Amino acid sequence: MLEPETKTKEAIVRQRYAAGAKERTDKLCCPVDYDSNYLKVIPQEVIERDYGCGDPSRYLREGEVVVDLGSGSGKICFIAAQIVGPNGKVIGVDMTDEMLEVARRNAPIVAERVGYANVVFRKGRIQDLALDVELLDRQLQENPITNAASFLAADELAEELRVKHPLIATDSVDVVVSNCVLNLVEPKSKRQLFDEIFRVLKKGGRAVICDIVSDEEVPDEMQNDPELWSGCISGALTEEGFLAAFGSAGFYGIQILKRDVDPWRTVQGIEFRSITARAFKGKQGECFERNQAVIYRGPFKEVLDDDNHRMERGQRYAVCDKTYNLYKKPPYREFFEFVDPIVDVPLTEAKSFDCLRNYIRHPKETKGQDYNATTEANSKCCDGGSCC
Ligand SMILES: C[S@@+](CC[C@H](N)C(=O)[O-])C[C@H]1O[C@@H](n2cnc3c(N)ncnc32)[C@H](O)[C@@H]1O
Repeated sequence: MLEPETKTKEAIVRQRYAAGAKERTDKLCCPVDYDSNYLKVIPQEVIERDYGCGDPSRYLREGEVVVDLGSGSGKICFIAAQIVGPNGKVIGVDMTDEMLEVARRNAPIVAERVGYANVVFRKGRIQDLALDVELLDRQLQENPITNAASFLAADELAEELRVKHPLIATDSVDVVVSNCVLNLVEPKSKRQLFDEIFRVLKKGGRAVICDIVSDEEVPDEMQNDPELWSGCISGALTEEGFLAAFGSAGFYGIQILKRDVDPWRTVQGIEFRSITARAFKGKQGECFERNQAVIYRGPFKEVLDDDNHRMERGQRYAVCDKTYNLYKKPPYREFFEFVDPIVDVPLTEAKSFDCLRNYIRHPKETKGQDYNATTEANSKCCDGGSCC
């Protein structure tokens, strides 16, 4: 029988973290300051097997549904469980049995200590969040692969499971978090990985990802070094490549939330450091004209958003209803002034808006062409006495 000549990167990663689940491996650690209040209920075994490089849980809120990619022994899930509370839910996804075993064994202990159970751990590959690997395993035990025909049938079965029983359903998650895992996914699957994060998020949902990034492209010989690969080094995207990957998957409002000044490691002159980035889902959809306008407040002279709207500071721009409402939420809210038309255009009557066009909205469009009012001084303006 033909044997693959070398182990895949994925097999190397699985082997290394299987060992890391059994015994703490210092080499895989990048020290992180977690909020100690949340660590009190988490068993020491879990805390010791901390192979993260940041803390995405800081950006979660009460009641949210969270998926943690590459959840390892479960630390971020157990912290997140306390932040989202009993009305929220946390799903950890990992491909390594030994890590899942530690996380699942400790879940009831944490649940008892916090007084509710809102965390589950599922086996899957984060670049294929539709495939429930344990479900496929069970089916293959009943119908094992013995020849080419059964191999092809297994492929079809996997496809059917993705559709009928997805591990993580489409549009079902408020926040996807991950701590030091995306770099471990093979280059050929990275694009699919970002697409999968996008797929599972609800419209309006967000990804908050901590990962190791490099300041220069990682050369091929370093990428082929199994030790460096599984040690969260060689698979790192560059800083700009990491942020661009979110953009290519359709995210908007992509932002660095935290970037370590000091590198975690430097290898052959290339710096590898921890970064935390956030990206939002929800800019897709139809554009309608409701005569709204926005004014970019500054401080930059001009800005360009993820839909290529270019805006100069202080100018009044026509935007569609969708963009108007996106700008009213984080991460844009603080950068804009909002101008509503005097006469509201109900959404049901709104015409379509050409979002590829960038145009200045004249105040007469906001007020109406016949607007000709003359008013007394606004008493609200006099409250502080400054403009009377
Ligand atoms: C560096 S550890 C981080 C673990 C955890 N996030 C933490 O903060 O301690 C990487 C984890 O991701 C898992 N992993 C790596 N590649 C994966 C993939 N493609 N799909 C699912 N899990 C993966 C490993 O099994 C391991 O548990």
